Amino acid sequence: MRNIAVLTSGGDAPGMNAAIRAVVRKSIYHQLGIYGVQRGFSGLINNEATRLELGSVADIIHRGGTILRTARSPEFQTKEGQYKARAYLQELGIDGVIVIGGDGSFRGAQILEGMGFPTIGIPATIDNDIACTDYCIGFDTAVNTVIDAINRVRDTATSHERIYAIEVMGRDTGHIALVAGLAGGAESIIVPEASYNIEEVCNRLLRGIKRGKRHSIILVAEGAASAAQVGEEIKNLLQMEVRVIILGHLQRGGTPTAFDRILASRMGGKAVDLLLEDIGGRALGFWKGEIGGRPYEEVFNSKKEFLWDDYELAGILAI
Ligand code: F6P
Repeated sequence: MRNIAVLTSGGDAPGMNAAIRAVVRKSIYHQLGIYGVQRGFSGLINNEATRLELGSVADIIHRGGTILRTARSPEFQTKEGQYKARAYLQELGIDGVIVIGGDGSFRGAQILEGMGFPTIGIPATIDNDIACTDYCIGFDTAVNTVIDAINRVRDTATSHERIYAIEVMGRDTGHIALVAGLAGGAESIIVPEASYNIEEVCNRLLRGIKRGKRHSIILVAEGAASAAQVGEEIKNLLQMEVRVIILGHLQRGGTPTAFDRILASRMGGKAVDLLLEDIGGRALGFWKGEIGGRPYEEVFNSKKEFLWDDYELAGILAI
């Protein structure tokens, strides 16, 4: 192992920069050459890599986004794109690649692995939808951003005694909605993992209003329904006004939490360690308090656990 390349791919997530920093500094510590590829797999096809130094990653640990930029690359799905990427990696003399991103990015890493480059995937997505890891980089920050939004909405919701439906990201999963809903004390949490019954949501609202609740917050995961649709359904059933908020890409930005920075630093360091041990083809995960790597196939074939106990608890606590 002499030269490593690092790239970020797919949707950005707060903490990606902390992971890049750890990869770069750990590589230099071990006297490896480290190259940063711009715009994910597209950068491999379009020859967009530069050699990184210690100073290249100064002052980024606290910044959201990714200094390497990111992209989703349809061209890398084609054989032609993959051959171009391989030729470029060979030209640079790259012996291993670290891919920071989500499930789709790991599939790209697996293709590179198949072409003879040892790769390590670092899970980074606010959706937290990757199996074999309790946490993906960016999830904790996104959840805290949602909680901050809920706190602010609560103030005005209480003043006006209003109902709010807040839509959060998560693609086709409800991990953000569940954790933010539990921590934010939402009255109802609507997620794609569980079917929702609008009458039950309305009954909950009525029970709360009856015992003097001044406001109600319903958290809606984008994969389950739109907040507008839920708001409309409640309005039709209860003849009450519902204000709708879509948090959208706000959830992807901002300074990463301490948790995400530490997770990213540990994973970045571990990725370099594994390549130095000649281990590739692994997606990193954080489970039982430790960072470890599992084969991509195992991750793809496992199902991300939904925290059903927390889902039930959130329902009980918001009774
Ligand atoms: O995967 C991260 C994510 O933010 C999802 O939560 C969301 O559904 C999607 O990306 C949005 O993608 P885009 O940035 O392309 O609009």
